[in-house]
Amino acid sequence: MTTAEQRRVLDWAAAHHRDLPWRRTRDPWRVLVAEVMLQQTQADRVVPRYEAFTAAYPDPAACAAAPLDEVLRAWSGLGYPRRARNLRSTAQRVVAEHGGQLPQDLSALLALPGIGPYTARAVLAFAFEQDVAVVDTNTGRVLARRAGERLTPARAQAAADAWVPAGHGWAWNQGLLDLGAERCRPKDPACSGCPVRRTCAWARARWPSPDPATRSAGVSVRQAPFAGSARQARGRLLRALEGGPVRLLDVAELVGWAGRDPAEVDDLVQSLLADGLVHRRAARLHLGGD
Ligand code: ADE
Repeated sequence: MTTAEQRRVLDWAAAHHRDLPWRRTRDPWRVLVAEVMLQQTQADRVVPRYEAFTAAYPDPAACAAAPLDEVLRAWSGLGYPRRARNLRSTAQRVVAEHGGQLPQDLSALLALPGIGPYTARAVLAFAFEQDVAVVDTNTGRVLARRAGERLTPARAQAAADAWVPAGHGWAWNQGLLDLGAERCRPKDPACSGCPVRRTCAWARARWPSPDPATRSAGVSVRQAPFAGSARQARGRLLRALEGGPVRLLDVAELVGWAGRDPAEVDDLVQSLLADGLVHRRAARLHLGGD
């Protein structure tokens, strides 16, 4: 049975549906690539990269066979390059263990590198149209505000799963992602006309502070400043390595850390080595594993 509230959300979802390329496919590999990209990157920036990546690697076998440095170049500019390395490892496991097809069950998906509770359920909902719920920063905010309290991961997942109208998992989850992104925004949510307005505990109580979404399950915390961060320096070094090997001696200068403690520069290099994103040969760094 579908409740009046669920009907309102589904109607809102149909009227506000964003036409995004990964919503036109049910191919599990393409859905996975999109959802991994969308974890840290906004949808409009993901679109061209998704198109290019899936053209280069149309299935797990293609990605599994590609050298890591090539996959990292295809990921270039999206940030968080460990995601690309994990995606390729997942592709290799899928080829070796699942006949080249992504599995259709939660525990098998969760066993793959880089696939957590969100991504596994996104594949089940968006590729296999199962009635499971995805909890990410956007839907996590909707869930916490509707409940009127900060939720633990287990409670958020249970509330989200119980809320999915049977047979509508695909449209429901896409709709809640849109609702969270466009209406139930972190700051100044647009509650008037929201399909959950009447049933949202936080809005009914007239938005008391603190916002229940703050530090609730799935909801991302504000990022530390990017400028001067190790993440920025890692990105610069990887960018340089895309053009060819880099001498260890040149790293500090190249990432804009010339005045810093050499131990910090060393930690930076070590972190990329430990993540398997670069390797060292003699006094030079190279992109990819060895
Ligand atoms: N963010 C995470 N998944 C998404 C999706 N399928 N569409 C739009 N934004 C998203």
